[in-house]
Amino acid sequence: MSQLLLDLASALAEFSEPAGLPADAAAEAAHLRRGAECASVRPNFVPGARLDHTALFSAALEGAVSLRLAQALRAVADEMVWHYSYPARPGEPDRSSAIAFAELIGPDAALFAPACRIGLTLMAPHTVYPMHAHPAVELYRVIAGEAEWQTPQSASLLPPGTAILHPSNLAHAMRSYDEPLLALYGWSGDIDTPPYYL
Ligand SMILES: [Fe+2]
Repeated sequence: MSQLLLDLASALAEFSEPAGLPADAAAEAAHLRRGAECASVRPNFVPGARLDHTALFSAALEGAVSLRLAQALRAVADEMVWHYSYPARPGEPDRSSAIAFAELIGPDAALFAPACRIGLTLMAPHTVYPMHAHPAVELYRVIAGEAEWQTPQSASLLPPGTAILHPSNLAHAMRSYDEPLLALYGWSGDIDTPPYYL
């Protein structure tokens, strides 16, 4: 398992390669890449409660833009600790069956790194991830699925392979269409304050 995790960290670092990204995203990608490269396997890691998104994850990986990353993720698919972290709100649907997150590198992950969080966001087809924000600076890179990415000022269809940078506390939302969305996220800065719906 340790070697599979190290292979994954290497594939994540390669996928975070900043070449070809806009300057602000490239700087953040380089920062996160250093975090991925320095991650170490946590001995005796005990994962928390997990949701079963095996089928959705497998379907999303079919459309992965990086074959190396897809291979590394498939190798650890059974160990993926999917969760949905937002508290329930009155009158809002339960989104935990359609939106999930899995932290791969970070203070609480199987691959330990103290100052960044790198993980996956997974969304079922035809799902809305409502406007939310967080103090952490966030870089997303799309692995699979074309979806709409929104801020109060913009809306863009991002294909696999593209990246988007969310500065600290910028509101943002996503909407998937016919394909599941799988995207790599990287957090830096205040990585301890959780995200919240607006
Ligand atoms: Fe975010």
